[in-house]
Amino acid sequence: MSASAAASSATALRCVGVTRSFASSAGPVPVLRGIDLDAREGEVLFLVGPSGCGKTTLLTVIAGLLRRDGGECSVLGEDQEAMDKGQAADFRRANIGFVFQAYNLIPTLSVAENVSVPLLLNGRSWAAARRDAEAVLASVGLADKADESPSRLSGGQQQRVAIARAIVHAPRLIVCDEPTSALDHKNGEEVMRLLRQLAREKGSTLVVVTHDHRIYDYADRIAEMDDGRVVRISTPAEAARHDQ
Ligand SMILES: Nc1ncnc2c1ncn2[C@@H]1O[C@H](COP(=O)(O)OP(=O)(O)OP(=O)(O)O)[C@@H](O)[C@H]1O
Ligand SMILES: [Mg+2]
Repeated sequence: MSASAAASSATALRCVGVTRSFASSAGPVPVLRGIDLDAREGEVLFLVGPSGCGKTTLLTVIAGLLRRDGGECSVLGEDQEAMDKGQAADFRRANIGFVFQAYNLIPTLSVAENVSVPLLLNGRSWAAARRDAEAVLASVGLADKADESPSRLSGGQQQRVAIARAIVHAPRLIVCDEPTSALDHKNGEEVMRLLRQLAREKGSTLVVVTHDHRIYDYADRIAEMDDGRVVRISTPAEAARHDQ
């Protein structure tokens, strides 16, 4: 997205002063120490930073799967913690797609059935879900694996199934935790191209955690985290200069 297009679209994600601690034997350990972050509709935002700095924790809070201790966090203008459990689940199912760091595929379902799950949960018929699942599997290069069990796929193939499942219902916010970590360069680029195309064509917002410098050019902005805070937000070109 160009800077002007981003500036004219609505805010899809807004975090202000988000905090979260985890309990330990030595007392609570702060992991998110006041996260300020926003993303616009159709924006591709990368989240980078050292291992343990809180990236996955932040994604999980944004996705509404983990409660924050303090601060504000809204997705599409809605605070999931202000909803009751059922409303929050409905909201997530309709609007948020996840690619987890571990792929979390359901081993007893086929590849196409795994990808169909978000559609079925949103009320699509089996036949329509199957058709859309096949189309999105083809777009990630797995048309011939639809009827396989996930356990018979390589790590990279399972990662692409997880991505297909996250995007099949074109959710308005897609959060991805290291979506290219198990992919070679060519497949990693292909997956990012696909994700960015979704952002461009459907206006989906992407928040992508990555360690993979080779895909930085697919971001509109890169937010750098360190020790539970966002310490810098830059364009890919600026980030490349910082890294030199
Ligand atoms: N459920 C939990 N209980 C206790 N501590 C946790 C929990 N989840 C995460 N942590 C701790 O919070 C810190 C941040 O973890 P997180 O998974 O968010 O890091 P990350 O930036 O995603 O790292 P990586 O790049 O290695 O995936 C770590 O020190 C981790 O041990
Ligand atoms: Mg992580």
